[in-house]
Amino acid sequence: MSKVKTLGQFIIEKQSDFPYAKGEFSRLLRDIGIAAKIVNREVNKAGLADILGEAGETNVQGEQVKKLDIFANEQFIAALTVGGEVCAIVSEENEEIITVDNPQSKNAKYVVAIDPLDGSSNIDANVSVGTIFSVYRRTSLSGPGTIEDFMQRGTEQVAAGYVIYGSSTMLVYTTGRGVNGFTLDPSIGEFCLSHPNIKMTRSGKTYSINEGYYVHFQDGVKKFIKWCQEEDKATNRPYSSRYIGSAVADIHRNLLYGGIFIYPTTAQAPKGKLRLLYECNPLAFIVEQAGGKASDGTKRIMEIDTKALHQRTPIFIGSADIVEMAEDYMRKYAAVEVKG
Ligand code: AHG
Ligand code: MN
Ligand code: MN
Repeated sequence: MSKVKTLGQFIIEKQSDFPYAKGEFSRLLRDIGIAAKIVNREVNKAGLADILGEAGETNVQGEQVKKLDIFANEQFIAALTVGGEVCAIVSEENEEIITVDNPQSKNAKYVVAIDPLDGSSNIDANVSVGTIFSVYRRTSLSGPGTIEDFMQRGTEQVAAGYVIYGSSTMLVYTTGRGVNGFTLDPSIGEFCLSHPNIKMTRSGKTYSINEGYYVHFQDGVKKFIKWCQEEDKATNRPYSSRYIGSAVADIHRNLLYGGIFIYPTTAQAPKGKLRLLYECNPLAFIVEQAGGKASDGTKRIMEIDTKALHQRTPIFIGSADIVEMAEDYMRKYAAVEVKG
């Protein structure tokens, strides 16, 4: 008998951790896994899209060739809608919430926030991209979900995860009891448990930030970057700089090796670039569950009040000691700026 444990088997085993769930939650995770496999199939042949789409953007089956982020959006929405466990979805690709109102969703208890394809500017260069998702229990009582269902803090998430379409494809998720990673085995078409109980080191030696925007950073960020570059044997500095430009890929690497990922405020993005609901909160939940930290520079990401679907926040996320050091710099130099 093989020792391989598939995502499906793992979910069923863990179902008893959720006495209230009665299988709905397990089915929801299963639906996300199915959509991820379909998106993975398309991402894997992304370079062929132009060939298939030569004749007026139409492929050999006569279907419109779609940009992959639109395709991914449709796949996840379809899987979650048909699955029947979700009463509303918020997606990066849709301005408004998508309400789910069909017979099988009558008793749906959950809402999902999703970034269907993260790092999509990397797709044509064959560089890793991802999907990020976050699950909340609905706060409304019945019928289709509402915007208010999403106005919850990150601390209320019941699950969060990402899929990384990289040199291999992985699904990493948490339900608040640690973090587990599954690698897709293409030969059997199943996500298999490969990274049980992922733990992040308290420190690391990588910092990930788009330094091209250095001139637009606040003083605290600039001084923290300089600290990362200083020589100090005891703290393994200078750190290495690594920036892929797909938050999922950058954070996945740092989750495994230790380090910090920062997307701060800049002159062009005064509130930061990344979105609270479907990028920062789910990534924060995973990193915290692995023993790391996620902050907006002064406070915990998951305690930020959600006021809008596509709300942005600056983010400092990764190994606990390094995030705390970055927070120290942000506080210290914010105080200096105020004093003038
Ligand atoms: P998306 O593709 O979902 O719009 O997200 C891209 C995000 C994130 O993944 C990445 O870390 C960041 O944008 C990169 O932005 P810069 O090019 O400004 O560094
Ligand atoms: Mn994104
Ligand atoms: Mn996206």
